[in-house]
Amino acid sequence: MRVSWRFWFFILVLIGAAAILIPQIALQSNQPVVINQTAVPPLPRLDPEKVDEGKVLYAQYCAECHGADLKGSPTWKQSLADGSFPPPPHDSSGHTWHHPDELLLDIVKNGGDPVYNSKMPAFGDKLSDEEIISILEFIKSKWGTEEREFQWWITARPDWE
Ligand code: HEC
Repeated sequence: MRVSWRFWFFILVLIGAAAILIPQIALQSNQPVVINQTAVPPLPRLDPEKVDEGKVLYAQYCAECHGADLKGSPTWKQSLADGSFPPPPHDSSGHTWHHPDELLLDIVKNGGDPVYNSKMPAFGDKLSDEEIISILEFIKSKWGTEEREFQWWITARPDWE
């Protein structure tokens, strides 16, 4: 059976389209993140090994308060009688992604702010920085692209002062 020229023409068009589209897709996932006219480097990929390690550590150390599903307490926005707040969610519905890496590491290492009577314990004597970073990597894996980009931006943006 002879293959018609239409077939080869079709293949040629496919190759041409791929040659144009593939570099563009690669470029797109490698764009700087721009918020408030301030650009920071492209969103780094999550390290799957750290995400896996963080998942195990999260279940062991964080889930009892922040929930196995990262949903926190349903009443996390209402202060308790002692002025403290219940554990917030760590998924996109919470505000963990509003904070830069440095602050998140500080909260987990040293605990919540005593000024607010915070009930977030300090984990500095139980977990190494590397382990805490893995837990944060796992938490990040549960965010949408928008939350991840915002949190990356606020982490990587240049200081203003
Ligand atoms: C005994 C309960 C408890 C455990 C266990 C716990 N937390 Fe918390 N965490 C809290 C509470 C309560 C708050 C809210 C404190 C506040 O608002 O001052 C909080 C707040 C936080 C915040 C700040 C969130 C924000 O949006 O500002 C982070 C980050 C955090 N926890 C991470 C962790 C991680 C990671 C672990 C596990 C290593 C963990 N927590 C384990 C109770 C807990």
